[in-house]
Amino acid sequence: MSGAVLVTGGAGYIGSHACKALKAAGYLPVTCDDLSTGWADAVKFGPLEEGALEDRAWLDAVFDRWRPVAVMHFAALSDVGQSVREPGLYWRRNIAGAVNLLEAMVRAGCRHLVFSSTCAVYGEQDGVLLDENAPRRPINAYGASKAAIEDMIGHFAATHGLEAVTFRYFNVAGADPEAEIGEFHRPETHLVPLVLDAISGRRETLTIFGTDYDTPDGTCIRDYVHVVDLIEAHLAGLGWLRAGRGGAVFNLGSGRGYSVREVIEAAEKVTGEKVPVIEGDRRPGDCTRLVSGSRRAARELDWRPRRSLEDMIADAWRWHQRGDYRR
Ligand code: UFG
Repeated sequence: MSGAVLVTGGAGYIGSHACKALKAAGYLPVTCDDLSTGWADAVKFGPLEEGALEDRAWLDAVFDRWRPVAVMHFAALSDVGQSVREPGLYWRRNIAGAVNLLEAMVRAGCRHLVFSSTCAVYGEQDGVLLDENAPRRPINAYGASKAAIEDMIGHFAATHGLEAVTFRYFNVAGADPEAEIGEFHRPETHLVPLVLDAISGRRETLTIFGTDYDTPDGTCIRDYVHVVDLIEAHLAGLGWLRAGRGGAVFNLGSGRGYSVREVIEAAEKVTGEKVPVIEGDRRPGDCTRLVSGSRRAARELDWRPRRSLEDMIADAWRWHQRGDYRR
């Protein structure tokens, strides 16, 4: 056993996949989650400490109980649309949780943090292949709250010697290939699960948000990464920290973009079913194209996404078809 790792948001989509991988790597993943957007039955690979990061006394007790060697911080509100409607909620919850977490780490002498950030910190930079040096210009409270936490980490690093690997994710999709865990949000806003909902009849149709973008087929382009590939990067990031290599920031994307129509076509190919589609208006806040232009994770962490868009959809579809899938 290599020690305990606190996984905030371990009951959520990405956090639960991190727990599975940490366990397989010999760590004890201790999930810290208030179950506000996560699911108790997604916590399968280690203990659940139920509580909110805003509760500092609870958090200190968790650190004392488990004496973690590192923290992976996934817990956050992450619905971009909601963050536009309720910015105060995002600033309060995401920031307060992170302040408490970093202070609790300092108190407990835990110096290693893997932080879940987002390409939303880059904001509206259509057409540019984004690398880690691109200016951060978030256009919504979600991206702004993550950018602020990145800054906060910098201050804790300077003063307290905290070391963090920050990952800026592009679009995460797919599920555990063994279908033990997968993606489920309520409400669901993400393209791949919505496409599968439309195929399986849980939803009548999929609406394409805008067909008049300046792209080859008129729909938005995104860079999709399989959640299992994404988590492999997190394990590499943890190894990087434990090897004493210090703080770093990495984009996690494939560098290849797919349009909404291409995702729909891939889903039709994988499932053999037609997606019932409506062509709708643009969704406010959507950028035309968001694609990673960085090779830093390949160069420094020896990380490359290995799974294709078809793999993401096939694995998500297997999870989706499970008998006990929620709903
Ligand atoms: N889309 C549709 N119809 C839908 C849902 C989505 O056409 O019903 C389109 C969107 O317009 C977008 C693409 O599918 O072009 C992907 O949309 P998602 O909602 O799946 O993902 P986003 O690109 O909006 O969001 C992702 C992450 C966020 C992150 C953001 C950065 O989920 O956490 O990228 O912009 F902040």
